[in-house]
Amino acid sequence: MARRKIVAGNWKMNMTPTQAVELVNTLKPLVKTNDVDVIFCVPAIDIIPAMEAAKGSNINIGAENMYFEDSGAYTGEISPLMLVDAGVKYVIIGHSERREYFGETDEIVNKKVLKAFEHNLTPIVCCGESLTQREQGVTFDLIRQQIKIAFQNVSAEQAQTAVIAYEPIWAIGTGKVATTSQAQEVCAAIRVLISEIYDQTTALAVRIQYGGSVTADTAADLFSQPDIDGGLVGGASLKPDFGKIVNH
Ligand code: 13P
Repeated sequence: MARRKIVAGNWKMNMTPTQAVELVNTLKPLVKTNDVDVIFCVPAIDIIPAMEAAKGSNINIGAENMYFEDSGAYTGEISPLMLVDAGVKYVIIGHSERREYFGETDEIVNKKVLKAFEHNLTPIVCCGESLTQREQGVTFDLIRQQIKIAFQNVSAEQAQTAVIAYEPIWAIGTGKVATTSQAQEVCAAIRVLISEIYDQTTALAVRIQYGGSVTADTAADLFSQPDIDGGLVGGASLKPDFGKIVNH
């Protein structure tokens, strides 16, 4: 069965609630399609107004992060129960910015992934190497470690519904997009790894995105690769160009 493409915007720390509503309204007619799953992962405070603005459209509103407990004394964190209650279905887990600036380890990523599945949220599990790591020749070792730990105790049935985003850190926000063959090479390796951890059925089902300076000019070529099932888009998801990326 062919995998359905999935293109997600990651708004990062951009857009006030008022701006979020405006952006959803601007993009709504531009991202219309029946062929691609379209997700806007937005700041927590924007989720409810964005969800309201997206009503009746094909846009899914997702989250950029969540905590790995249901409730309790965790000041400032967002619970999966809050996301579910707001109607969220997708949540980004382990983005490199969370790992770099907020100390998220592979173990924390694994706890969050397990928690997301417990509440039937689809995690968009991020992995990716830094420029130094690529130059040191450890890209594949690193990605293997990130994915193996992220998927500890995740069942094959759950893994089949997961989304994995390969985002080389050196390509994020730098305008330096990975070449199509670099992106395909790592996404293919991730799929092989999933077949090793689980089985071929799971490897063929899991959806793998590329992320890092995706633009309207590069999307079509990237997303046509055999192991790239769409993209996780930062900067360009805040602009009308996102419509062209979705309809690549
Ligand atoms: P840019 O598209 O801005 O490079 O960001 C990529 C990203 O980090 C998406 O999660």
